[in-house]
Amino acid sequence: MQVLLTGGAGFLGAWICRRLSQRGDRIRIFDRAENRNIIAAIAGAPAAAACEWVIGDITDAEAVATAASGCDAIIHLAGVLTWACQENPARGAAINLIGTLNVFEAALRHGIGKVIYTSSAGVYGPQSGALPVPVSHYGAFKLACEGSARAYFADHGLSSIGFRPYVVYGPGRESGLSAGPTLACRAAAHGETYDFPYEGAAGLVYVDDVAAAYESALRHDAPGAHVFNMIGEQATPENVIALLRELAPDCDIRPGGAPMPSAPEIAEGPLREVLPDVPFTPLREGIARTFSFYRDGTL
Ligand SMILES: NC(=O)c1ccc[n+]([C@@H]2O[C@H](COP(=O)([O-])OP(=O)(O)OC[C@H]3O[C@@H](n4cnc5c(N)ncnc54)[C@H](O)[C@@H]3O)[C@@H](O)[C@H]2O)c1
Repeated sequence: MQVLLTGGAGFLGAWICRRLSQRGDRIRIFDRAENRNIIAAIAGAPAAAACEWVIGDITDAEAVATAASGCDAIIHLAGVLTWACQENPARGAAINLIGTLNVFEAALRHGIGKVIYTSSAGVYGPQSGALPVPVSHYGAFKLACEGSARAYFADHGLSSIGFRPYVVYGPGRESGLSAGPTLACRAAAHGETYDFPYEGAAGLVYVDDVAAAYESALRHDAPGAHVFNMIGEQATPENVIALLRELAPDCDIRPGGAPMPSAPEIAEGPLREVLPDVPFTPLREGIARTFSFYRDGTL
């Protein structure tokens, strides 16, 4: 299968590359710049070298459509995170919302039957984990993408699966407010001090479970415009610190920071009814794997 992976140079992209390259899929990455470093660290140098690379901006509809030519499916990850949308909402909307529309239009133009894209648990505001009422521009743009995905199915029969991961953690996650659990593992592994950037409970989902969900979505035929929560295991920074103390008793990781701008309790919903093979990595195991990666480079 030939897959277009937008935003493939980032954290989730590297883990999806790892899974797809192990299955022999051909991967074409569309990103702002060519940077194979995270993919090489996570998927290995041969997998990184084998990716075809198209440099472009997701806001450029023609560039996205050209990149999609000859592809069987699109996995759309290109986007900017919460703080970038807060700093410059218009640019955030251009990338996260218009960029997503560009991906759906490219799929229509080339008769690509499936778009798999990334929404976020940020569609939920802090008041409710059941009704999506975002209080961030980031969450608002992601929720708008979901509505447009439903419109593409209603208007053109174009199927899609959107995932709403909560806090994704694991080797390679080093930027954003919700990088806290991963950076805590890195600091503990390196014997450094670290202050958590957020407080309170959140769903922590191990990155390879998310990559597996994308892989599963590629293989399953599920007509419609689906959206699935991916929550992982609910945990506070204190829970993560307790697990790290079992691995590194002297580690100096401190809780603190601002409350997360999304609901602490969100149900997973029907993910596994449609994609039954998506794995669930318990937090204890995911934290241990992340710690080992930063201590001795093993995955
Ligand atoms: N990491 C998480 O916890 C998390 C949780 C929920 C949703 N998501 C979503 O998953 C997606 C990927 O997240 P990630 O953690 O891999 O982020 P990342 O920042 O590591 O990767 C994003 C990639 O998108 C690219 N990109 C940004 N703007 C672009 C543009 N204008 N044109 C082309 N490429 C552009 C970047 O260069 C980068 O390679 C994003 O859409 C994000 O909103 C992430």
